[in-house]
Amino acid sequence: MGKYESPIGVFDSGVGGISVLRELVKQMPHEDYIYLGDSVHAPYGTKTLNEVRELTLNNVRFLLENGAKSIVIACNTATSAAVAMLRQMYPDIPLVGIEPAIKPAVLYKKNSCIVVMATPMTLKQAKFQKLMHIYEDMADIIPLPCPGLMEFVERGILNGKELEKYLTELFWSTSHKKIDSIVLGCTHYPFVKPAIQKVVGSTVTIFDGGNGTAREMKRRLAETDLLNKCSQTGKTRFINSRNTEEELKLCEYLLQYESR
Ligand code: DGL
Repeated sequence: MGKYESPIGVFDSGVGGISVLRELVKQMPHEDYIYLGDSVHAPYGTKTLNEVRELTLNNVRFLLENGAKSIVIACNTATSAAVAMLRQMYPDIPLVGIEPAIKPAVLYKKNSCIVVMATPMTLKQAKFQKLMHIYEDMADIIPLPCPGLMEFVERGILNGKELEKYLTELFWSTSHKKIDSIVLGCTHYPFVKPAIQKVVGSTVTIFDGGNGTAREMKRRLAETDLLNKCSQTGKTRFINSRNTEEELKLCEYLLQYESR
C-alpha cells in the first residue's frame, strides 16, 4: 500500500473539529479519515498553555501511530498553543492548523466591525494577537471570549432557549456596536451558527475557517504527492477518548449536520 492510501488524521478537543472534517470530506471525498475527539479532556480553551500543548502532542502521536499520513489540527486552541512546536517536531509530515478567518471578514467589507468569537486561550495567545494587529487598521476587531459555548455542542445542544439565553447574554458586551460580521474562531461554533444568527440578526455575515483549512490540506497533499489516487468514496473512522456509543453517534450526526 502506498503512503498516499493512508488516512488523513484530524483531531480536536471534542466533536467541534467535525465542522472541519465535513469540509475535508467535501473537498477530498476519496480520502480516508481518522477523527480523534478528546472529549474526556475538553474543554481545552480554559486550560493552561502547557496542558494544551501536552494534550495536543498526545493526539498527534496517537494519529501517527495509527497510520495517519498528514495531520489537521481542527482546533483553534490547539493550533494557537502548539502548531509552531509541532512543525519543528514533525518537519516531514504535512500538518495544517486552523486560525480565525479574520482576513476574509476584513476583505468582505471596508472598515467594518468584526467580532471574533473564540476560546479564552485562543484570544490570549501571541499568534492571535499578531493576526489581529495585521488587520486592526482596516477594521474594528472585537475579540469575544466564549467560555461555556463549546460545552453546548459537546452535549449535542445546537439550538433552543438555553443556548439562545447564553448567546444573548454573551453579546450584551457588544450591544453598543453595530456588528457587520462575526468570525467563528472555534471549530465547535459552526454547529451553532443558526442560533448565533438568530441572536445577532440576519444582516450580520458569519465566517469560519473550515473551508480554508481543508483547501490548504488539499494543496499540501498535492504538493507532496500524497493525494489518494483511488476513485472510491473514502471512509471515516471516529475515535473519541470518552468512547461511549452516545458520543460516537453524536460524531456521525454532526458529520451529516448542515448548519449553513
Ligand atoms: N474546538 C476548539 C477550538 O477550535 C476548542 C474548544 C475547547 O476545547 O475549548 O478552539
